[in-house]
Amino acid sequence: MNKFSRTIVITGGAGFIGSHVVRLFVNKYPDYRIINLDLLTYAGNLANLSDVEHKENYEFVKMDICDYDNVLRLFESQHVDGIIHLAAESHVDRSIKDPFLFARTNVMGTLSLLQAAKTAWLNTPEGFEGKRFYHISTDEVYGALEIGGGLFTETTPYSPHSPYSASKASSDHFVRAFHDTYGMPTIVTNCSNNYGPYQFPEKLIPLFINNIRHRRQLPVYGKGENVRDWLYVEDHARAIDLIFHKGKTADSYNIGGFNEWRNIDIVRLLVATVDRLLGRKEGEDLDLITFVTDRQGHDLRYAIDSTKLKSELGWEPSLQFEEGIEKTVRWYLENEQWLNSVTSGDYEQYYARMYGDKKC
Ligand code: NAD
Ligand code: DAU
Repeated sequence: MNKFSRTIVITGGAGFIGSHVVRLFVNKYPDYRIINLDLLTYAGNLANLSDVEHKENYEFVKMDICDYDNVLRLFESQHVDGIIHLAAESHVDRSIKDPFLFARTNVMGTLSLLQAAKTAWLNTPEGFEGKRFYHISTDEVYGALEIGGGLFTETTPYSPHSPYSASKASSDHFVRAFHDTYGMPTIVTNCSNNYGPYQFPEKLIPLFINNIRHRRQLPVYGKGENVRDWLYVEDHARAIDLIFHKGKTADSYNIGGFNEWRNIDIVRLLVATVDRLLGRKEGEDLDLITFVTDRQGHDLRYAIDSTKLKSELGWEPSLQFEEGIEKTVRWYLENEQWLNSVTSGDYEQYYARMYGDKKC
């Protein structure tokens, strides 16, 4: 007899946010069986989960979410009753270079999971009863805001600008369509920029911490005036836990910390923090800042209104940004081996081998 009360598949569990979600669920719910389904692209790294890999309620399955037949076999054979879907291509700059890959993974991959879950669930006597498909999305689907303007709410119309955000918007629509058409119990959340340990160092914060440490240039796009709304990754994982268990089916929630920063101000804060922690003269590395050609279609400002999540489910971020940045910088400085392993080139080669110039 199965000794676990539930079997939950977390896709993309070897990535940045996914690894925090897997860790939280494995430790907090010993009666749940957690299956981490991940293809281990350049962004997926099992070292992110070395502290939970021995746990009895944790399993890893290397699988492509686009591989419908194997995903269906897994869902049916393992009696999966919950899916938390994070697997994605997540970097905007890469989406500008290779939009096909983003459509494949983010759109077709999500559709393959939805269809497999629907088929598997409808083949059981209880159907959709007690099941949940939770799709993790981004605030970028709402488009861009003016400086000093309003915030994104759950009713802001979608207006994606980059191939990444267009692919995420499309996947959100498919998730909602599966509820509206088939009655599938779905839920969608849209979160702002995350930061914290285990983020692949192509994204602003880990890239710049690493560059400051090695005294490499800090390529600030445009004038550094773009604004992002930052949330510590463990706060996002806590919100996902709460919404997975208590969120309303077919609803959506914005997740964010009301924490807007201009890129250039974050870069200055990072320089000051890294310099101080390395015993350098504070600010001595400010001259590494280099203004470079802007990202194509660069969204000016994102800002999330997460009032609904607070008023309905009582979620609030736990960390102030300065505290979170201090923790994050310390983590990257103390985990140089992790940084070296994920940037060793193996992942880039894997990526090229896996996808080459394949289009779909
Ligand atoms: P990430 O790039 O760090 O991790 C993505 C994971 O997905 C990796 O482990 C990768 O191996 C896996 N993956 C990629 N393609 C796959 C495939 N075809 N099959 C199976 N696994 C595959 O991403 P992240 O930053 O942790 O983002 C996770 C999710 O959260 C994404 O859906 C992203 O859109 C969303 N999100 C991210 C942020 C952020 O600031 N990072 C904010 C809001 C929403
Ligand atoms: O808003 C949520 C999104 O946040 C997530 O959906 C994405 O997966 C995640 O990657 C992130 O997207 P951004 O494009 O905002 O993150 P990134 O770290 O790439 O860039 C943050 C800001 O910093 C952005 O305005 C671009 C700028 N930037 C980034 C890099 C990598 C630079 O100026 N220089 C850089 O080298």
